[in-house]
Amino acid sequence: MAERIAEEKVNEIRQAVEIVDVIGDYVQLKKQGRNYFGLCPFHGENSPSFSVSPDKQIYHCFGCGAGGNVFSFLMDIDGLSFQEAAVKLADRANIELKLEGASAGRNPQMPEGSRQMIEAHELLRKFYHHLLVNTKEGQDALEYLLGRGFTTESIDRFQIGYALPSWDFAVKLLEKRGFPLELIEKAGLVIQREKDGTYFDRFRDRIMFPILDHQGNTIAFSGRTLGGEEPKYLNSPETPIFNKSKVLYNFHLARGTIRKKQQAVLFEGFADVISATRAGVENGVATMGTSLTEEHISLLKRNVQAVTICYDSDKAGIEAAFRASVMLSKAGFAVRVAMMPDGMDPDEYIKVHGEEKFRNEIVGSSATLMAFKILYYRRGKNLQNEGDRLQYIEEVLKEISFLDKAVEKDLYLRQLANEFSLSLEALIHQLNQFEQAAGPKNQNQPRPESRPAPYVRKTELKPAYHTAERRLIYHMMRDADIAYKVQGLLEGNTLNIDEHQAIITYLFAYYEKGHDPDPGAFLNDLQDNKLKRVVADIEMMPLNEEISDQELSDYIKQVLNYQKMLKIKEKMAEQKQAERQNDFLRAAAIATEIIHLRKTL
Ligand code: UTP
Ligand code: MN
Repeated sequence: MAERIAEEKVNEIRQAVEIVDVIGDYVQLKKQGRNYFGLCPFHGENSPSFSVSPDKQIYHCFGCGAGGNVFSFLMDIDGLSFQEAAVKLADRANIELKLEGASAGRNPQMPEGSRQMIEAHELLRKFYHHLLVNTKEGQDALEYLLGRGFTTESIDRFQIGYALPSWDFAVKLLEKRGFPLELIEKAGLVIQREKDGTYFDRFRDRIMFPILDHQGNTIAFSGRTLGGEEPKYLNSPETPIFNKSKVLYNFHLARGTIRKKQQAVLFEGFADVISATRAGVENGVATMGTSLTEEHISLLKRNVQAVTICYDSDKAGIEAAFRASVMLSKAGFAVRVAMMPDGMDPDEYIKVHGEEKFRNEIVGSSATLMAFKILYYRRGKNLQNEGDRLQYIEEVLKEISFLDKAVEKDLYLRQLANEFSLSLEALIHQLNQFEQAAGPKNQNQPRPESRPAPYVRKTELKPAYHTAERRLIYHMMRDADIAYKVQGLLEGNTLNIDEHQAIITYLFAYYEKGHDPDPGAFLNDLQDNKLKRVVADIEMMPLNEEISDQELSDYIKQVLNYQKMLKIKEKMAEQKQAERQNDFLRAAAIATEIIHLRKTL
């Protein structure tokens, strides 16, 4: 657990940064009146419905409902924790912020050693790239890459480089720049000889692929041999700044596209990521030669809900794709699998069949998870053979039992029945047995977790009390006296909309803690993202700062009237009921009550 940042510090940071500048790094903003507008980075759109208010220091998207302040913006767009966002903003504002518990490698205020390790990597990255692109020594390597179909753009974009066939290029360069050799040994860049304690370069005569962390720091390398030496790819070891099970290759560059498309493509190798990018698939990431971990998954989870797996279509790749698909669907992702013919990997496929075909026929026409599983279970079986056939049918039936939708179940059951000339009844019978065995509603099969409603928000007509409640909250956030006055006027009633009531409950707690009214600070204090969005939405209403007593009591009236209307409806039902039971005395009493209630409207 990272430690809590003092509230004054948070406020200091909040006041020192300008939200328009911070968001401007991610979104092209245009001033229009008091606010700035741009294309929402949280959902795909063609006309700008994303607005940023410099007065209020908040943002809000009218399209998808995203909203919050500068902290929540960074948390959402970069997948950061609150602490990490605070560190990033403090850095930007030159405010000193020391965090002891914060993890290295992800924040700019990391331990001195980690910082230096990154600096050493950054320096080498630039040198390697220069050697590859501009020097005679790098010419063979460059030709190899171009021959493989790498373009100069991709070489630049991925900052690919070349390490000379020298035992001490990095040693000498880094020593001259004042990096302690023990430190760069710990960073995995050089290796110490046992016999005399001297150091030599880990990477020699290799094409160098820098590995960036999710903030864009170079934290490791993978070096590919030009000839046939083993290993084909030599990777940096695990170091204080490099943890393979956390890093996804290209995540830093792909994040924007991943969020826009609401989809990530997962590859096995980074040659595939690079080729796919060239083919216009810019939302690709890859693990670093390891299988997918829970840490990778939680990183993806913070950014996207749909993942397309595009692994090699050899045996190992298909097995790995199956395992990854199980993990991802367990984590609630919508999973698809893109498959290539004949044991190819994506890089080879693009070379042979071209970029467009890859985009459309492989990634664009990826299989649903169920279709992939059906193919998966077929592999290596001879369906003419009865034993194989029965096993296959059972495996597929089990998968069908996990499906959510009746229509889907029906579709695959019919497919199975047709293919093997079985009766639908028999299959359904067996399916029911599986479902019973699995217990109440397939607990072992998770369903997609709910995320903020997928980006179509209907512009429905809101009832009067909805707007009235929001206007009240707007003023209650600006003036504690008004807040308490509203509380009094509500006479123990709550607001009609649960979220609104939750917000004012937090607001009173906020005032009780001795805070002065400050909508921005209050927004910060709110933990619940959904409520944050509502507050941002309310803050974006173009209202006067002042409110008259008349307006106030009008709004209260609208809030309470709705409750009275509900009550009246209830009473009318009771009245009818009494009449039906011939209890005219009671019916008359209720009628009087209704008249009384109507009068107070
Ligand atoms: P592949 O062997 O499929 O590499 O390994 P590739 O992407 O097709 O590479 P090229 O086309 O031959 O250049 C997939 C991934 O496994 C890791 C790397 O991360 C690679 O991207 N790997 C592979 C290693 O770490 N070491 C190796 O020796 C080989
Ligand atoms: Mn390959």
